[in-house]
Amino acid sequence: MNETVTPRSRALRVAGVSRAFAGVQALQDVNFSFEPGQIFGLIGPNGAGKSTLVNIISGYDRPDTGSVSVDGTDVTASRPYQRARNGIARTFQHGHLFSGLSVKENLIVTGMGTGKSRKQAIAKADALIEQYGLASRADHPCAGLPHGIERLVGVARALCTDPKYILLDEPAAGLNEGEIGEFTANIQALQAGGLGVLLIDHNVKLILNVCDRIHVLVEGKTLLEGTPTEVRGSEALAEAYLGKSGSVHRG
Ligand SMILES: Nc1ncnc2c1ncn2[C@@H]1O[C@H](COP(=O)(O)OP(=O)(O)O)[C@@H](O)[C@H]1O
Ligand SMILES: [Mg+2]
Repeated sequence: MNETVTPRSRALRVAGVSRAFAGVQALQDVNFSFEPGQIFGLIGPNGAGKSTLVNIISGYDRPDTGSVSVDGTDVTASRPYQRARNGIARTFQHGHLFSGLSVKENLIVTGMGTGKSRKQAIAKADALIEQYGLASRADHPCAGLPHGIERLVGVARALCTDPKYILLDEPAAGLNEGEIGEFTANIQALQAGGLGVLLIDHNVKLILNVCDRIHVLVEGKTLLEGTPTEVRGSEALAEAYLGKSGSVHRG
């Protein structure tokens, strides 16, 4: 019962995960794990199953077969708020902020939703607002925020639950070059702080720059997994993901 978690077992692990939707095999026997302090890239063309995996890891969906575990604890059947308490946080590919609430209120509500007192949630929100340079927007409603700011608020909100692992579903989509630079620094700061980061993005240059390992999905199946050097050199990647004449600098 009181299973000891050894340092070796500290990982977020996806084992044998498959998921089908009405005839579409969105995921087929996907296996990977990543650890605190790692940035783990998940890439693949649209429809590859990336967001479905994030939903399954964060408890918004269940696999047909396979399991998800956090530091040795099987969480496959637990609900999103329970997984947040187990240390998993996520951002959403599209919005998902409470648009009528202010930036600060979004952060406070999220913190309280995973067990913080109001006072603790406010302190955490204030710290994140400071850290992410959001002070001038703190009292603005989330509706109508500039895109780059909305993305930052999404990450700050995920961090309100003090996660060990954070899943970022295309957090840099639509950001300009300057914003991507700042975003990269933020992600690296999370890593330096000991978080395990799963990063989904179509910007392969960004992925190759920041990730320790990269997992490539195509049509729900694993094409390959490796270090940036291994992935960059892969012909299979060039053919299946980028098109035969594709360059790895696809936007
Ligand atoms: N709730 C759902 N109902 C039906 N089909 C879905 C659902 N979610 C995802 N799919 C399908 O599963 C496949 C993978 O989708 P998704 O995980 O969103 O891919 P990605 O994030 O890599 O673009 C797609 O064919 C998509 O249409
Ligand atoms: Mg997606």
